[in-house]
Amino acid sequence: MHHFHYSGSDLQCESVDLAAVAGLYGTPTYVYSAATMEDNFRRLQRGLAGLDAQLCYAMKANSNLAILRHFSNLGAGFDLVSGGEIRRVLAAGGNVQTSVFAGVGKTEAEIALALENGIFSFHVESEPELARINHVAGKLGVKAPIAIRVNPDVDAHTHAKITTGKSDNKFGIPLKYAAAAYEAAAKYPNLKIKGVQMHIGSQLTSVAPFVEAVEKVAPFAADLKARFGITYFSIGGGMGIIYKDALASGQQAWWDAQPADKRPLTPESYGAALVPLLQPLGLKILLEHGRFMVGNSGALLSRVEHLKRGAGKNFLIVDAAMNDLVRPAMYDSYHEIVPVHRDSSRRALVTDVVGPICESGDCFAKDRQLQEVGEGELIAFLSAGAYGYTMASRYNTRGMAAEVLVKGSAFELINARETFEQMIAGEKVPAFLK
Ligand code: LLP
Repeated sequence: MHHFHYSGSDLQCESVDLAAVAGLYGTPTYVYSAATMEDNFRRLQRGLAGLDAQLCYAMKANSNLAILRHFSNLGAGFDLVSGGEIRRVLAAGGNVQTSVFAGVGKTEAEIALALENGIFSFHVESEPELARINHVAGKLGVKAPIAIRVNPDVDAHTHAKITTGKSDNKFGIPLKYAAAAYEAAAKYPNLKIKGVQMHIGSQLTSVAPFVEAVEKVAPFAADLKARFGITYFSIGGGMGIIYKDALASGQQAWWDAQPADKRPLTPESYGAALVPLLQPLGLKILLEHGRFMVGNSGALLSRVEHLKRGAGKNFLIVDAAMNDLVRPAMYDSYHEIVPVHRDSSRRALVTDVVGPICESGDCFAKDRQLQEVGEGELIAFLSAGAYGYTMASRYNTRGMAAEVLVKGSAFELINARETFEQMIAGEKVPAFLK
């Protein structure tokens, strides 16, 4: 469920006309719905009722300060992966003490920054990292809280580039070596063993791999509780969202019409399957969802430049490009594309939807059927709230897009479009070229 819908002919986010947003702030612009994020948060919380559960929102999905503040106000901590992300949480007024620090290559400076700010726990990915965290904690005269990320060797059946829980991925310590890693951790004087962690992949659309992974790791978590007194089990993130029927899935009627055996994953079905497996452990349960929290809360607004009619093929050239939203180019991912002004009298158009960047990969969709739209008209890429802006770049010297947050009938710019001057601010021509 989300809050993008047509009011008459006009696409709205909550009660705001997207055409008005584009008129004020231009395009390409990301627009986010605060109500959708809050609904997602509360549904997950309700789905996990009966557990002592804490969301550590995976802010790599969308780390705008306004969005961090929104989740922080709701009671979330954060799943952090860099010193930059720690600093963002601080800048947003969020709580590092309920946040966890993950990643395979934390630097000494990042570890120190996390410790100085009272990080809840480090999620450790290897034995050399234990030694490094111990060393930094010793220098600071503190004990570093840690959990080891175990790799349960479960196939998440998702895109190869975002699956993480198989033994051939770089992540975590294989379950069969994890006991030895905990023994090693226990010997370090400046580490405090606090929990265990896993994360099997992203954009999972069925609950079965989560169940398989929890069933594999739960007995180990129980052993760790008995031996080392761990207090928490982080089951990672990964809950998938709807990309193909994105617009329709904003309506309850769409969900009601889904056949029982084909129902997409929901926080309710996720909770119903996992709570009974987790409850007997008597541990605090951390969740690190990113995409589910924000994915369907965002759309990327773009304006049509031209409709180019090729030999047996149409190209709709728009002003957003792979630098703004790289997911289709990088993962062949699908984003639903809808007109901001719907007009049933228009003909259907089958077209590739492409950006202006000079490479063929700059393509959002191939042979997509859309309502015919022409120069100057607006379209929206849906389900773009996660891994959209955060993966954007300045390729082709295109500045970063603007971001706008909507709440009810209010909306505000939460990140101004990057200017040319900002883009080149750190660059200079060296003296030897002058
Ligand atoms: N926890 C850990 C340890 C992770 O590595 C990730 C994501 C998450 C949590 C959050 O996963 P989520 O709930 O968002 O699925 N750029 C890709 C997704 C990369 C995910 C990386 N790790 C995409 O656009 O599909």
